[in-house]
Amino acid sequence: MPSSTLMIRLHEATDEIHAQIQELPYLKALERRDLPLESYVGQLRAMAVLHGVLEHELPVRRDARLGAVWMEDMRRFSRVQSDLTFFAPRAVLDIPAVHEAAKALADRILQRSLDAPITLLGYLYVLEGSILGAEVLAPLAKEAFGLDPRRGLAYLAWDSAAARERWRGFGERMDTVPVTAEETDAIVIAALEAFAGIRRIFQALYPFDPADLALKVTALNPEAGAHPVPDNPMEVEAAIRAGRRCCLEYPYFAWRYGERGQRYTYSDSAWLATLISRDQAMVNVQVEWLGGVLASRGMPRILLQRHLELLYEELAARVLERKEEDVAKLLVAADRLAGQRRAVIADADFDAIRARFEQAAGPDWRVRLPGVGAMLVSAVADQIHGIEEAVASLEGWLTDPNRFPPHWIAAVRDALREARARAVAVRKGPAETAG
Ligand code: HEM
Repeated sequence: MPSSTLMIRLHEATDEIHAQIQELPYLKALERRDLPLESYVGQLRAMAVLHGVLEHELPVRRDARLGAVWMEDMRRFSRVQSDLTFFAPRAVLDIPAVHEAAKALADRILQRSLDAPITLLGYLYVLEGSILGAEVLAPLAKEAFGLDPRRGLAYLAWDSAAARERWRGFGERMDTVPVTAEETDAIVIAALEAFAGIRRIFQALYPFDPADLALKVTALNPEAGAHPVPDNPMEVEAAIRAGRRCCLEYPYFAWRYGERGQRYTYSDSAWLATLISRDQAMVNVQVEWLGGVLASRGMPRILLQRHLELLYEELAARVLERKEEDVAKLLVAADRLAGQRRAVIADADFDAIRARFEQAAGPDWRVRLPGVGAMLVSAVADQIHGIEEAVASLEGWLTDPNRFPPHWIAAVRDALREARARAVAVRKGPAETAG
């Protein structure tokens, strides 16, 4: 039986490697205020990967001993995400070696979660302890980059007393969890492994070779799959601006999907921008596919149509070396979506239903959630085009009595009813006359 506690064992075993991390050029550069923004944002991206994986694995293991230490309010993924959302419009480039190191460490967490979940306590110790280091880093990053907790500093900024209290509570839980001597050794080895991976991340963060910088979709949205983004930073910037404008025009995105929705809007936007090098038929197929996915999740295709129009505008304004006709493919795809809707609901009906909805919703709600009338009509048309969940995925949210007053809910239902009635009439009309 070792005489020292788990926390003392961890502290003693990792003291040296922790000191090594503090000696790395990263900290010196931050102190001198000449750490590049790519390094700071790279740190946040790497930590987002580690927190994302660890905070997902700990609760799903349903291990009583892990559960005795892990508490839901220990999550830090959303803090780091809110910082990354703040930086997203700047399209900060990725340092690929950092990304690799974070990914390798995330793989180790996943492996341990399967083979020896109790050893994740070693990782938890390292990440939890980093809050104490954050107290040192936060004022430096604040000065160096002009940040505050709501603008890029949420992950590092801690109230000192709260941080100490949190660390004390964590230590107590760690020291009372029943672990064997063998398990203690394995937890210490895991903590050393975590620190070694983090040292690798901090080594890669600074200095780096600017020629290696790249933009990966995970930089825009760590949850997005490995789909491509444009090589040209101007195109990425255009994509982000288009995504932002779309979110501003439709506050529905932020209200319903939160920051996560915004991140997806950025990464989808960047993906759409890569399509301009494909031929028109391929652009149409891909847009069709994305439109179906989004409409089934509560985002009728009129939103994608608008997004494509905005993306066209942003790209056309800045990507001069691109052939005009390449960028125009996006507009063709947007028009195609509009044309499909028109084939089901005539523009005059579309406008009338939308106007009646807005009237019934009243001025307050019209301002809070603009564009909903058009979305409702679009969802009905989408459903008639075979996207089965198009209406249900929107109606359910928009008629939740916990969220909306009765007059709004009635207006939503009326608009859907009317759109269905008009849609059928229009659909039958030309077919009957043609026949
Ligand atoms: C690079 C700059 C860093 C600085 C300046 C720094 C600084 C500090 C400070 C001042 C403490 C508190 C010591 C105490 O109150 O006893 C601490 C503790 C700790 N830090 Fe760091 N740290 C840094 C990086 C990191 C990183 C990157 C990690 C891991 C992700 C980390 C993990 C820890 C842990 C686990 C502890 C708790 C050690 C213990 O008492 O058991 N630190 N750090």
